[in-house]
Amino acid sequence: MTKTIAILPGDGIGPEIVAEAIKVLDKLWTSFGLDVQLEQGLVGGAAIDATGHPLPIETLELVKKANAVLLGAVGGPKWEPLDIAIRPEKGLLGLRSELKLFANLRPAILFPELANASTLKPEIVEGLDILIVRELTGGIYFGQPRGIRILDNGESQGVNTLVYNESEIERIARVAFESAEKRQKRLCSVDKANVLEATELWREIVTRVGKDYPNVQLTHMYVDNAAMQLVRAPKQFDVIVTTNMFGDILSDLASQLTGSIGMLPSASLDANNKGMYEPIHGSAPDIAGQNIANPLATILSIAMMLRYSLNKPKLATIVENAVSQVLREGLRTKDIQQKGTETISTREMGDAVVAALSQ
Ligand code: NAD
Ligand code: IPM
Ligand code: MN
Repeated sequence: MTKTIAILPGDGIGPEIVAEAIKVLDKLWTSFGLDVQLEQGLVGGAAIDATGHPLPIETLELVKKANAVLLGAVGGPKWEPLDIAIRPEKGLLGLRSELKLFANLRPAILFPELANASTLKPEIVEGLDILIVRELTGGIYFGQPRGIRILDNGESQGVNTLVYNESEIERIARVAFESAEKRQKRLCSVDKANVLEATELWREIVTRVGKDYPNVQLTHMYVDNAAMQLVRAPKQFDVIVTTNMFGDILSDLASQLTGSIGMLPSASLDANNKGMYEPIHGSAPDIAGQNIANPLATILSIAMMLRYSLNKPKLATIVENAVSQVLREGLRTKDIQQKGTETISTREMGDAVVAALSQ
């Protein structure tokens, strides 16, 4: 049966990188029999400009009926003066919570060809294969109360609340343990249990859930140490599970281990593996419109979509192999440039992946 993919290009480099991912989907349709129908929708700043709202009702209807969602990126300086409640980022957060996408998988894998693109020494990152499992619909991003209020003495006060229920911790822990079971069976839960009660509970629940997964070795680490360990000796990690905000920060950090944030895909999944797929990076306003952004994170997000939501693991491997091949051929966008070599554009990189798919 034909499956529907909602395509939400968003802002900044979003439309540029999504266009390259669409080329890959088109090729999978014409040459590999992938039976999908693509339907475009508005989100973020593009939606604000067209409708006044970052997540229009039409988009919500589209993503709810779709089998999977591909998102570029949202946000940019143009919309920063707006009230935070109606900024582009709220469109993305709304998608995550409306679709109940509580499990965010952010793999940080180093393609061997990019060992020299990382700012870390090649021997520190060679062979790197980490999976960050980030809780995505709770924690300080969504906790109440929140806002900026005026105190009796006339002073302003900003408030956000870090809150986690037992059930929210338990379900993300299970996703992480099950992921670890399929990998090297090592799970590190990252928290700040020495200071924050919400993550004291996090540690307690993760430990309890761990009793159901006796073959997974569970460790705990405070987030400050985890950030340090990720740059000191990243290969000590197999799967990391952590809260919404810590996962946001640590995944950007981990991306640099792989050469560039332009290389990291993600899958945001609900309890039934319906998913939204997006690169972990943002709309990169500093390079938008220049045809120089790296589209590989978005193309690799298609591979994750094929694996998790479309049940096409072989096609997923074909896409990943095509990405490996273009890197092996020495093709590089600017962010992963090798010293003394030429770089190619966003569109040329997309074309090269499509060409590699046909071979
Ligand atoms: P960013 O990820 O957009 O950019 C950080 C740096 O990485 C920039 O120098 C950028 O040029 C570079 N970069 C990012 N993606 C790249 C790619 N594919 N190829 C080459 N270089 C790339 O983060 P930021 O600058 O902090 O945020 C910019 C805007 O994006 C903000 O409005 C932010 O809220 C938004 N944002 C959106 C998402 C999302 O939609 N998922 C994620 C992060 C940030
Ligand atoms: C990400 C982004 C988002 C987040 C923003 C844009 C809401 O940084 O997907 O990593 O913080 O989750
Ligand atoms: Mn982020």
